[in-house]
Amino acid sequence: MKIYDLRSDTFTKPTEAMRKAMYEAEVGDDVYGEDPTVNKLQRMAEEITGKEKALLISSGCMGNLIPMMIKGGRGKEILTSSFSHIVNHEIGALASLSGTLPVLVPSDKGIMKAEDVEASIHGYSYDMSETAMIETENTTSGIVYPVEELKKIKKVSERHNLWTHLDGARIFNASVETGISVKEYASSADDITFCLSKGLGAPAFSILASDRDFIEKAKRCKKILGGGMRQVGIMAAAGIYALENNVERLKSDHEHREAISKALEKTSWAKIEISSTNMIFFSSAYPIDRIMNAARKRGILFLSEGNLGRIVLSLNINDEDTDEIVSLIGTIDEGELCE
Ligand SMILES: Cc1ncc(COP(=O)(O)O)c(C=O)c1O
Repeated sequence: MKIYDLRSDTFTKPTEAMRKAMYEAEVGDDVYGEDPTVNKLQRMAEEITGKEKALLISSGCMGNLIPMMIKGGRGKEILTSSFSHIVNHEIGALASLSGTLPVLVPSDKGIMKAEDVEASIHGYSYDMSETAMIETENTTSGIVYPVEELKKIKKVSERHNLWTHLDGARIFNASVETGISVKEYASSADDITFCLSKGLGAPAFSILASDRDFIEKAKRCKKILGGGMRQVGIMAAAGIYALENNVERLKSDHEHREAISKALEKTSWAKIEISSTNMIFFSSAYPIDRIMNAARKRGILFLSEGNLGRIVLSLNINDEDTDEIVSLIGTIDEGELCE
């Protein structure tokens, strides 16, 4: 049976062409800044984000933690939404490793309004923790942050002398969806991290980009976290390949998401809660486990988040697969889910 893997865009595998680029990579000791392929990738990331300096780091989690180690810390707060990855999926590293306290700003599925962010900022008080940072995530649960809101949030941060961190793990999905450049999104934050894994299809690694002083400090944090790596040009080559070849193709993931979302809408058992960029979240009157089982019998794998089903499109799925998934979804009826 053919398997259609809709669990996450983290399940993508390097293609033959990407592996060839990795095989041929020139390498050196990156801890000494001497890996030419890493250096090339970092320069590309500086160009793409418009930031002064970029640093190759091991993961998206590291890209979120390092800014909090530098700009947060004990007794300091980061304003974020209750949907954010730093709050839900990073094992509390923000508190346990950086000492930063998350303060949850009201949001619409992760999209905060600038006025709510501003209302959550503390003035100085001897007995309160201090607001130090604002975090936005773009995309958040697949939803694209309106760029105007991001700019307003940046203005708020400037008025209050706060640092803004952008978790852009999937910033390229936002960019191809809206036509707004990564550079423009990045300009709405003091630092940005993005993932080369996930939709871009590299096996690992992320980028953190910001000003020179911040990235100098980030290098030390990376080392302290065990992220100092040697001949990693092999992996950086995959990142370069991903940036050169796999950005525009994200659009087809979004088209596949649209087709699958329409197929789900036609069923009597799924209600679409979010359908945006490469992600679908749906609810059901039936337990999600039963729907997952029915789908698994047909070779379709997806995950649940709380009581929602979560489907993520990636380069694992091509046009033909999408047609097949659409018709397989049509074969799941309520009778099967009642059993
Ligand atoms: C929005 C977001 N930020 C950060 C991360 C962390 O990335 P990594 O798994 O590379 O640590 C993820 C991972 O799925 C994510 O979805």
